[in-house]
Amino acid sequence: MREEQGIGRHFQNATKYHRDRMQGHRLRPRQAPPFSRHENPLSVLKLPEPETAGGMGLWEVVARRRSVRDFSPRPLSLPQLSQLLWATQGITATVGPHLLRACASAGALYPDETYVFANRVQGCAPGLWHYQVQDHSLAQLSAGDLGDQLAAACLHQEFCAEAAAVFAWAAVVERAAWKYHDRCYRYLYLDAGHLGGQLQLAACALGLGSVNIGAFFDDEVNQLLGLDGEEETALYLTAVGHPQ
Ligand SMILES: Cc1cc2nc3c(=O)[nH]c(=O)nc-3n(C[C@H](O)[C@H](O)[C@H](O)COP(=O)(O)O)c2cc1C
Repeated sequence: MREEQGIGRHFQNATKYHRDRMQGHRLRPRQAPPFSRHENPLSVLKLPEPETAGGMGLWEVVARRRSVRDFSPRPLSLPQLSQLLWATQGITATVGPHLLRACASAGALYPDETYVFANRVQGCAPGLWHYQVQDHSLAQLSAGDLGDQLAAACLHQEFCAEAAAVFAWAAVVERAAWKYHDRCYRYLYLDAGHLGGQLQLAACALGLGSVNIGAFFDDEVNQLLGLDGEEETALYLTAVGHPQ
């Protein structure tokens, strides 16, 4: 007897490209704005300019990268946080009207927004911050240490509270659905995977430790981020800090 088709397999089949069924070639009439901006943030923090040359060699970084789950209480510095944000979502080229970023994104649509739970970052108050890509700054969305709540929301993975900062990526679905329709869900996750991978390499190059997080209670993380989980929804997180 054929096993009932699970939602995962159904998704994979329903989002396949076929030569005779290329829905991705029909653009929806209205494109979502490429950047999110939060109105009335508690404060805005302009980040130090990132380094764009030098640093540890790529092969050494690749050889050294390892997931780290034991973090020391030492805080991140603001230049380190700036470097990590730039290395993932920073603008690295301008082509016509398009601002291209450090990390690849399907169709250069960049649907994944970056949030930072700052537990211990020098010069950056504890709380939730949103990365404003265009001017390399952070907008503060809430004040107070959210580490314990975040750890609980991430299946009680306590390192979320012990890490100096936890990055969270959430997809603005319409930004990619405009072009890719339901297939965009594949790309939202692929984009997020690139971000998490690149963040780990950048953290390693700075002598920091990190671990990617795919295991979390979606509704709880979305609630902490202030997201509805439909129009914009959390996909992936990475905890960063000094290794113990
Ligand atoms: C998509 C994805 C999700 C992950 N989720 C978690 C997680 O929720 N908790 C955790 O401790 N590690 C998580 N990891 C880290 C993996 O366990 C780790 O990469 C793997 O054990 C290999 O070890 P390495 O990264 O040191 O090479 C995740 C990694 C990936 C790529």
